[in-house]
Amino acid sequence: MSLNSSVTQSPGRVHPELTPVMLNHAAWVTPDAELTADFYTRILGMEIASTVFDIHAPVGGEQIPFFHIFFRMKDGSTLAFFEAPGLPPRPHPSHPAYHIFDHIALQAESREEVIEWKSWLESNGVAVFGPTDHKGLIFSIYFDDPVGIRLEITTPLDPDWNRHTEIGKADLAMWSATKRKAQLEGCDARAALTELVRELRKR
Ligand SMILES: [Fe+2]
Repeated sequence: MSLNSSVTQSPGRVHPELTPVMLNHAAWVTPDAELTADFYTRILGMEIASTVFDIHAPVGGEQIPFFHIFFRMKDGSTLAFFEAPGLPPRPHPSHPAYHIFDHIALQAESREEVIEWKSWLESNGVAVFGPTDHKGLIFSIYFDDPVGIRLEITTPLDPDWNRHTEIGKADLAMWSATKRKAQLEGCDARAALTELVRELRKR
C-alpha cells in the first residue's frame, strides 16, 4: 500500500498537549447547495451556521468560484459543503467498499432517538439501513444524503465506547503484525487477516 507522500511521521515523538478539541467541521463538494441545505436543515434539523463566497480555492489558490455553507449541530460542530459550478461529476469509487466504509457518524441522544430518526428519515423518502447493534458498543443506522454522502446516526451503548485505548493498541499491533508476517512470507494478507478476524470473533 502506498501512503500519501505529503504524510511525514517522526516515530517516537509525542506532543504532551496537542490533541484536537472536537470536530469543527467535515466538508464535501455538493453539486447543489440548495438541495443540500434543504436536507441538512429540514430533514436533519441543523441550522445554517456560516456561509462563505470566494473565487479562489482556500488551499493552493486556484481560481474556482465557490459557495461554502456550514450546518450546525447541537454541540456546535458542523458539516460543510462547497458548491463549485462547472466541476465534472465526482468519480465513482473503484470498489463499493469505499462507499460503504467512508462515512461520518452523527450522535443521537439515545437508542430510542436512533429509532425515531429511522422513522423520520423513511417518512421523508430516505432509504435507511439498520438499526445495527455493533457488539454492544454503539447502535446505528446508515443512509445517504441527496448527493450520496454516507451518513450514520448512532448512540453509544457502552458509556466507555471511546475509551478502550489499551485493547485498541493491542488490536492494531495484532492486525499489523499479521499483515506484515503474511507479506514477508509471500502469503495472501487478505486470507491471513480473514483468518485472524475469524479467530478473534470466537473470543
Ligand atoms: Fe461508523
